[in-house]
Amino acid sequence: MAGYVLAIDQGTTSSRAIVFGEDFTPVSAGQQEFQQHFPKSGWVEHSPSDIWDSTLEVCREALEKAPEGGAGVAAIGITNQRETTLVWDRSTGVPVYNAIVWQDRRTSETCARLRGEGLEETFSAKTGLLLDPYFSGTKISWILDNVEGVRERAERGELAFGTVDTWLIWQLTEGEVHATDATNASRTLIYNIHENAWDEDLCRLLGIPMSLLPQVRDSADDFGSSAPDLFGRPLPILGVAGDQQAATVGQACFRPGMVKSTYGTGCFALMNTGETPVRSKNRMLTTIAYRLDGRTTYALEGSIFVAGAAVQWLRDGLGLIDSAGETQGLAEQADPNQDVYLVPAFVGLGAPYWDADARGAMFGLTRNTGPKEIARAVLQSVGFQTRDLVGAMRADWPDAEPPVLRVDGGMSASDWTMQFLADILGAPVDRPTVAETTALGAAWLAGSKAGIWPGAEAFSAQWKLERRFEPGLQESERLRLLSGWKDAVSRTRSTPD
Ligand code: G3P
Repeated sequence: MAGYVLAIDQGTTSSRAIVFGEDFTPVSAGQQEFQQHFPKSGWVEHSPSDIWDSTLEVCREALEKAPEGGAGVAAIGITNQRETTLVWDRSTGVPVYNAIVWQDRRTSETCARLRGEGLEETFSAKTGLLLDPYFSGTKISWILDNVEGVRERAERGELAFGTVDTWLIWQLTEGEVHATDATNASRTLIYNIHENAWDEDLCRLLGIPMSLLPQVRDSADDFGSSAPDLFGRPLPILGVAGDQQAATVGQACFRPGMVKSTYGTGCFALMNTGETPVRSKNRMLTTIAYRLDGRTTYALEGSIFVAGAAVQWLRDGLGLIDSAGETQGLAEQADPNQDVYLVPAFVGLGAPYWDADARGAMFGLTRNTGPKEIARAVLQSVGFQTRDLVGAMRADWPDAEPPVLRVDGGMSASDWTMQFLADILGAPVDRPTVAETTALGAAWLAGSKAGIWPGAEAFSAQWKLERRFEPGLQESERLRLLSGWKDAVSRTRSTPD
């Protein structure tokens, strides 16, 4: 009984593992949250051993719960929080510093300096990205420059860099394989997405010795096998993609013009642009959607840093709710006559503003504002931010087919939020039956490479709509709300546009 695939989804706040059956539905799963470290304002770190230990444990749990203890699992697919940066010793495997998480802003001055030197265009033209602390490049430089002795060790070729996928592959293969896939490489600020190669000039500008870098493979490729003792037998690792790219695959957005938006800690909208790397005029990113059989498919991406994290803030920061699920109920009861806006720039603003130094703010508060209005403002902020992204993408790709947004991730379960999203977009929002699209995407990459799952066409055919949210808001009201949002954002900016 083969045909099962183990998907690892190593995310920002939790590690998950899901075993999928041949019909692409989950049969078992494991999940563990792990600790977030905030050593200074704007800094976010993870312990590398937490990442690995939690991943290993959830894999074992999912395998144990699968039919026949996972005996039918034929391959592993990995998907991961992207950009998060690790550096470790090649001979001992010991990290030289904590993982610096994608949300971390400690290199914002470095980015500003490089921008000041007129280098943004150089980086953008080659990588499709912008000079923002979000990406791995300046995080690698920070580790080399700030951890004692590390630059010398790196220059001697003793160290390895990796995003989380690379760290997990290294651990799973017990140091046999130092590799990443093209989607993860495309988030580092040192990978030339047109030539599909690490870029020597960019590495030099950031002071990164190229001996640190992993080998870049296709998203469906041979990444070695897990060490036999980990799961009782070796399992081939055959699929790897960054989580947003994996969700694009899991949502079967294989045709140019198709868009998905995933609601996790942040929100990330990706539009497939086919074999054309579209250069954004609206501060979207150009990124690799997937690379299969050596052929690269590109995407436009809009990244916002706080979506589900704003609901977490309601729960853990403000203590207004006990569980995320209560937010919708509160929002439904909010006073329709109050316009309260939250700009959740807790770690700066991502696309299309890219303002690392902006901080969050709430506007429109009156003596009558209470938890209900604040909860509604949190959910609406997710809709407004998505609207900013989709609007910018449409402007960059005007010929795209009529806009329909495929959604997934935790917050997509909230009908109220999805209805508001459709209303504010003025376009339909489609929610699929399989909510686990990120893990499913990674599983498909591995399953198709293993030859046990069908190709893209048959996989697309299995995508099923659970519910379509049609826009219902009057145009004048939509424009009124959008103008209030624009005003709120402009008031949080650290520098005017
Ligand atoms: O780019 C960061 C992204 O990959 C993180 O995703 O799902 O962990 O919020 P998530």
